[in-house]
Amino acid sequence: MKIQLKEFDLLESTNLTAIQFAKEGAEEGTVVLARQQNGGKGRMKRVWSSPLGGLWFSMIMRPVIDPAFAPQITLLAGVAVATALRELYQSDDIHIKWPNDLLVHGKKICGILSELQLTAEGDIEYVVIGIGVNVALKKEDFPEELACIATSLNEEFAKQFSTMEVLQAILEQFKCLYAIWQQDGAKEILSKWKCLNGTLGAKVLVKDNDKVIFTGLATKIDEYGALVVENALEGARSFDFGEISIR
Ligand code: BTN
Repeated sequence: MKIQLKEFDLLESTNLTAIQFAKEGAEEGTVVLARQQNGGKGRMKRVWSSPLGGLWFSMIMRPVIDPAFAPQITLLAGVAVATALRELYQSDDIHIKWPNDLLVHGKKICGILSELQLTAEGDIEYVVIGIGVNVALKKEDFPEELACIATSLNEEFAKQFSTMEVLQAILEQFKCLYAIWQQDGAKEILSKWKCLNGTLGAKVLVKDNDKVIFTGLATKIDEYGALVVENALEGARSFDFGEISIR
């Protein structure tokens, strides 16, 4: 996979621009980067605060796979980011929270938003993987409501990495894992995800649009990337949507 980097000072959302490029036929490996976004998109239609100092980028991918397995690419991205950041910041304190948040000491440092487009025949036309990493944000850069649930890597680890250094490290990992995934399937990605995750074995609340819909012990992640949660009353349920809070 060849990386083609397209850099911008300000975009509404790198995902939106990447989707536009993808529709115009941009190749797999095209990366859209913005120093700031004024309409950054989060999961569940939330706004993603994206001031200067953060790494905000989206990748265009065109995997030739059954769309049922498409969520694996988001897990792959989470593994790539977590592995790159653990190496760069020399820390094991970076964990993945299902499906694709990255946490340091329980606070969010990265979010991933993948958007999939199918062809009329039902094949994958493109997947845009949007990744936001709080690299060099200061406490005062976060909106008040995020101050106690989000943090930034340089502050947390007292380092001074640039957003470009973090981007390079992530892309290296991503390229390597993507090649493994294409050649051998998801086995290795899932096993790496399990080593990096902070979800399995924890008591969780499963939420859909901020409403708790199930509680229990997170026991498994399946080959489609769905999380299995169990409780004594209702048994085991598998979730391929929503998000969780860890108790
Ligand atoms: C989440 O809600 O956790 C996902 C956040 C994803 C944010 C990134 S920043 C780069 C890309 N462009 C966007 O508009 N969103 C993603």
